[in-house]
Amino acid sequence: MIVAIDGPAGAGKSTVARGVARALGIGYLDTGAMYRALTLVALRSGVPCDDDAALARLAREHPVHLEQGPAGVRVIIRGDDVTAAIRETEVTASVSEVAAHPGVRLEMVARQRDLMAQGDWVCDGRDIGSVVFPGAEVKVFLTASVSERARRRHAELVAAGETVDLRAIRDGVERRDHADSSRAASPLVVADGAAVLDTTGLGVDEVVARIAGMARDVTS
Ligand code: DC
Repeated sequence: MIVAIDGPAGAGKSTVARGVARALGIGYLDTGAMYRALTLVALRSGVPCDDDAALARLAREHPVHLEQGPAGVRVIIRGDDVTAAIRETEVTASVSEVAAHPGVRLEMVARQRDLMAQGDWVCDGRDIGSVVFPGAEVKVFLTASVSERARRRHAELVAAGETVDLRAIRDGVERRDHADSSRAASPLVVADGAAVLDTTGLGVDEVVARIAGMARDVTS
C-alpha cells in the first residue's frame, strides 16, 4: 500500500507522514529530502542551480540513501551524513529552483519508484499522488494557511537555535508556494482522487489519526 501525502511547504507533511508511518508500522519516504540533498551537493560542488543537464548528472552520480534510524530518517550521500545540512537556509532558498528542472525530476521520480517498489510506504512530497504514484491507495493533499505555515517553520528554526524573522519566513513560504505551483514540470496540484485536509488549527495527532484511519479503511 502507498499513502501519498502532498501539499505546500510548511503544511506539516513530514511530521504527519512520519506519524502515519509509525501508526501503520510501515516505511516513510521523504522526497523533499532527496531534492534538498541534491541541492546541497550542487551548492557544495559549484554546479549552477539553473543547469538542468548538470544537475541531472549530479543526481545520478550522488544517489541519496535514506536510512531509517532510531532517531528518524538519516540522509546519506556517498557515506556523508547530511541530515542536518539539508535543512540549512541556503539549501531551502535554492531547492525550488533545482526541483523545477524536468531532467532532475525524471531522475528523482525513477529513484522514488525503485525505492518503493516493494513493501508498504507513506511518502510525502509535491507530486506523489499526481505523478510518482497516481495509483496510490490513499492520497491526501495537506494544507494550512500561509500564516500558520510560516509560524510553524519559524518555531522549527528557533527550536534549532537559528535567529530568524517571521516576516522573512512568511515571504519565503509564499515564494516557494509560487515557485512550486507555477513550474511547468509537475507543478503542485491536488491529485485526482486526493482528500484535501486543511490542518490550520488541528493538532498533529488528530491529522495522523485521520490519515491512518483512511489507510485502515482501504485495507480492511
Ligand atoms: O518538503 P520540502 O520543503 O522538504 O521540499 C523541498 C523542495 O523540494 C520544495 O521546494 C519542493 C520540492 N519538492 C518537489 O518538487 N517534489 C517533491 N516530491 C518533494 C519536494
